[in-house]
Amino acid sequence: MSQVVVISGHPNSQGSNANQVILNALNQAISNLDIRYLDKLYADYQIDIKSEQDALIDADIIVLQFPFYWYSVPALLKKWVDEVFAYDFAFGANGDKLKGKDLILSFTVGGPEESYDPLGYNHFSIEQLIYPLKQTAYLTGLNFNRPIYTHRMVYIEGVYNKLEDVKNRAASHAQRLIELIDELKNTPEATIKKFVKHWFENFDLLPSDSAFFTKYLSGDVTLSMPEGVFTGHSGFRDWYKGARETFKPNCEHVVEQVTVNKNGEDSYLVELRVRLIADTFADSKLKGEKINLLVNELWQLKVRENKEVEISQYSVEVL
Ligand SMILES: Cc1cc2nc3c(=O)[nH]c(=O)nc-3n(C[C@H](O)[C@H](O)[C@H](O)COP(=O)(O)O)c2cc1C
Repeated sequence: MSQVVVISGHPNSQGSNANQVILNALNQAISNLDIRYLDKLYADYQIDIKSEQDALIDADIIVLQFPFYWYSVPALLKKWVDEVFAYDFAFGANGDKLKGKDLILSFTVGGPEESYDPLGYNHFSIEQLIYPLKQTAYLTGLNFNRPIYTHRMVYIEGVYNKLEDVKNRAASHAQRLIELIDELKNTPEATIKKFVKHWFENFDLLPSDSAFFTKYLSGDVTLSMPEGVFTGHSGFRDWYKGARETFKPNCEHVVEQVTVNKNGEDSYLVELRVRLIADTFADSKLKGEKINLLVNELWQLKVRENKEVEISQYSVEVL
């Protein structure tokens, strides 16, 4: 499986100075990398939507690599987004294929930093100008990571910049991008965030067997729930039995916020804000009511060397 897919949106990669340096550096540094040069694959702009979607399905991290053109992505990359992020793939009833993957915007900007300022000739900040892409990520469930971009990347001989400076800036841009990719691939924070997703996906199903959950709980776990305090695996099973008698399967836990704070050598305090949307059973305490509530959760956990998570304290507070 290719873990990192890079979509190169430069319309003429042969003529590129900056983007090409970045792509070459990525190629050397990252394993399991699929660089898709849109200009080479689709010189006629006729995008093979299925093969692009398949490449995204295989990826954990998606990098859009492009030169900033007219405050946006080049037309070829815009066409790629328009066609590949299709209904029932990226949005709509079954459109969850991008959900939870990491997105990185990596782009080179011609103008200097000070021009992207209310008093500069570009007036707006880069962060403001990329809002449409940020919202595209939100709508499709992609994790929008800090964008990597570099100014003064235009080279016109004798007019703008020295070629050597542009290439040096491109090399340091590539370093920052590689660091972010490594971060996303390897950190305990990444492991925890993936685990949170996995945990709630299973919770949504409310399986009859609680073994999936107990395997991530320490033997002496303390669970402080709105229903009371429960201890150990048997305590979890008691609480879970009550949850299964109350909530119907296929409920929805929407994780609105996850903050991971390191508080020991391999220990982490994880703060979560989660919205629970669920139907309840008529004969339960909630009497068939439809629930839509926001809860704060605090988990104390360890990440083992094998990347297994073990939760020792789990508390839920209804807001
Ligand atoms: C059609 C076109 C539009 C551009 N629009 C912008 C722009 O809106 N803002 C900016 O700072 N630079 C702009 N530039 C400069 C490019 O961002 C810059 O040349 C590019 O990032 C250099 O990368 P490369 O060497 O890989 O081509 C534009 C360049 C072209 C050709």
